[in-house]
Amino acid sequence: MKLAVFGAAGRMGAAVVRLASEGGDLVVGAAESPASPLLGRDVGELSAVGHLGVAITADVDAALLGAEAVIDFSTPKATPQVAHAVKLARLPWVCGTTGLDAAANKALDDAAAVAPVLWAANMSLGVQVLAELVREAVRRLGPGFDVEIVETHHRQKVDAPSGTAKRLAEAVHEGRGGLREVTGRDGLVGARRHDELAVLALRGGDVIGDHTVHLLGEGERLELTHRATSRDLFARGAITAARFLAGKAPGRYRVADVVAGRG
Ligand SMILES: NC(=O)c1ccc[n+]([C@@H]2O[C@H](COP(=O)([O-])OP(=O)(O)OC[C@H]3O[C@@H](n4cnc5c(N)ncnc54)[C@H](OP(=O)(O)O)[C@@H]3O)[C@@H](O)[C@H]2O)c1
Repeated sequence: MKLAVFGAAGRMGAAVVRLASEGGDLVVGAAESPASPLLGRDVGELSAVGHLGVAITADVDAALLGAEAVIDFSTPKATPQVAHAVKLARLPWVCGTTGLDAAANKALDDAAAVAPVLWAANMSLGVQVLAELVREAVRRLGPGFDVEIVETHHRQKVDAPSGTAKRLAEAVHEGRGGLREVTGRDGLVGARRHDELAVLALRGGDVIGDHTVHLLGEGERLELTHRATSRDLFARGAITAARFLAGKAPGRYRVADVVAGRG
């Protein structure tokens, strides 16, 4: 597949460029922020796959020339701009950027009116299965079990809680209605309320992404954990998703659709 990669010089973008090139896909466009000191540099050389003849650009439309799909791990601020270009080019768009605000979410919806769009906070199959297990565990254990989600990420991560933690919270809500989310506790907060669902973030070191859903009952507790040990996991998932979207009708898709081969 011919791919355009947004956030191409970032941690995830570099992994996408490397894995796509190693897997026989062609990176034909590489976009970065207008302020990036890496504009003009060859994206293959930056991703340690050797010269690809593709210069990093801040020109979104130029980055899409000749591409068959877009893979985007950049920033929420860039999402409306990517959406605009995707709409004009009517290209499949895999977006893994997290911390999206209302404008970015609307941009995804707008693009999905004319192109197939898959946004996921976590591109891994393991997290998709974890979410399904969490929904089922919460449903079966019932209100006698308190639910708390703890996520850990590297010190550079800018948004909290992580998109994956929010996805897992969504799975908890699907399993039990009426819960109220709490993202921190400080001072005399009183006893834990029955309807709380805490989503807590730890930051430090080079942790790629750990998520644990704690189910805390009387005399027993369950801990359902996913640990990412390599960014390649997410990059591979995004490339698989791009292949899945090729030829699909416009609309929003999820990793669950890729797993089920639906659409
Ligand atoms: N869905 C998943 O499975 C998954 C997995 C891991 C990470 N993520 C998410 O993916 C995003 C990127 O993560 P990361 O660790 O790769 O971060 P990162 O290393 O900071 O990379 C983001 C890149 O996007 C660039 N950028 C900023 N504005 C841009 C624009 N207008 N156009 C194109 N590129 C632009 C940044 O450039 P500057 O540094 O110059 O601003 C940076 O190089 C985050 O939201 C993260 O939470 C998702």
